Amino acid sequence: MNCFSFFSSKKGDSSGKKAIEGDEELSGIQNVYLYTYKELRVATNHFSLANKIGEGGFGLVYKGRLKNGCVAAIKVLSAGSKQGVREFLTEIKVISEVEHENLVKLYGCCVEGNHRILVYGFLENNSLAQTLLGGGHNSIQFSWQIRQKICVGVARGLAYLHGDVHPHVIHRDIKASNVLLDKDLTPKISDFGLAKFIPPNLTHISTHVAGTTGYLAPEYAMRGQVTRRSDVYSFGVLLLEIVSGRCNINRRLPPEEQYLLERAWELHKKGELLRLVDTSLNEESNLEEACSFLKIGLLCTQDMPKLRPSMSTVVRMLLGEIHVNDQEISKPGILSLLDSEDIKGQDYKAEMKNTSCATSSRLGKLDNSSSSSEDMTASVATMTFTSIYDRSK
Ligand SMILES: Nc1ncnc2c1ncn2[C@@H]1O[C@H](COP(=O)(O)OP(=O)(O)OP(=O)(O)O)[C@@H](O)[C@H]1O
Ligand SMILES: [Mg+2]
Repeated sequence: MNCFSFFSSKKGDSSGKKAIEGDEELSGIQNVYLYTYKELRVATNHFSLANKIGEGGFGLVYKGRLKNGCVAAIKVLSAGSKQGVREFLTEIKVISEVEHENLVKLYGCCVEGNHRILVYGFLENNSLAQTLLGGGHNSIQFSWQIRQKICVGVARGLAYLHGDVHPHVIHRDIKASNVLLDKDLTPKISDFGLAKFIPPNLTHISTHVAGTTGYLAPEYAMRGQVTRRSDVYSFGVLLLEIVSGRCNINRRLPPEEQYLLERAWELHKKGELLRLVDTSLNEESNLEEACSFLKIGLLCTQDMPKLRPSMSTVVRMLLGEIHVNDQEISKPGILSLLDSEDIKGQDYKAEMKNTSCATSSRLGKLDNSSSSSEDMTASVATMTFTSIYDRSK
């Protein structure tokens, strides 16, 4: 019996999977396996630091062995984080409704007293941020075939969220640290705490800006307008990172090379995109394909959202079923904002300059989103501008 069948077999069993009771805020959550705090404490040997495998904005993450023998990643919300409670609930709501080979699997959660803990299947090969982009200390050989599999897998996971789940889901925090790799290096998108369901009949929703610098689409960073195409933008940045083997912002490089998108655009204009492909791939015979992936990355990051392909088209492009035409590619989004005299753009640039390679920061996690277009016009400008202003302080 594998871990999944264990949890499936609990469906409808009042001892495990049930609606969370006794707390109005949590009462909407159904069909989630509930762990006791004691069980998770045992699994992690009293949350011992020896079992700590990571730490993010949400809190510490531990590796643990559950009583059924499954190995899990156990993510503990740090005490006192109100924003985190919101993310905790969103994560459970979204992920308990979806299932796909390229999305992480939530085993369950713990809601006991002040404890808020998420329990996932453990993924053996960590995140792309720590392996591919982590700078050394990594035993994985990221061949072209592996990178290709990772790019296609992430694209499929996103295409599923954008098109196959109803209502459609926008992830809002696609980035290298949210792509985890299992033992076969199959990529799994994680962290649905910022995700949004798009109500039917709406093309976009407006919200406080949240996400990670360097991956934010300009219209989202500037006006708080979030659509599936803002995820496409983030995916484009990630695609460039995977093919080039470097972070989207790296201040250790010479000034003209620090911003990956800017660099990709400059090289593309000169017909020298090949220079951006990770040098460890030089021996391989797929450089042409790697270049076309870079072009797809540029296409995904176009300034105008409607010029970016949908994720289902991106999948077909990555598989070579649709070819990217050079003429279709114009200057990517963030560059035109950075060039502009717009004060908001300047603030954004200041923020990006403060962001270093491995520590791209999460932004504005408070998230009073509105899903009506009426609300949007009234509130977005203020909320978004405030958010950007705050960030640049
Ligand atoms: N299911 C999992 N299996 C294995 N390791 C995991 C799993 N989930 C998280 N981790 C590890 O824990 C680390 C922290 O994850 P977390 O999502 O909390 O933060 P982050 O993605 O690094 O930052 P942010 O808070 O900005 O999302 C990950 O980088 C990864 O190394
Ligand atoms: Mg994460």
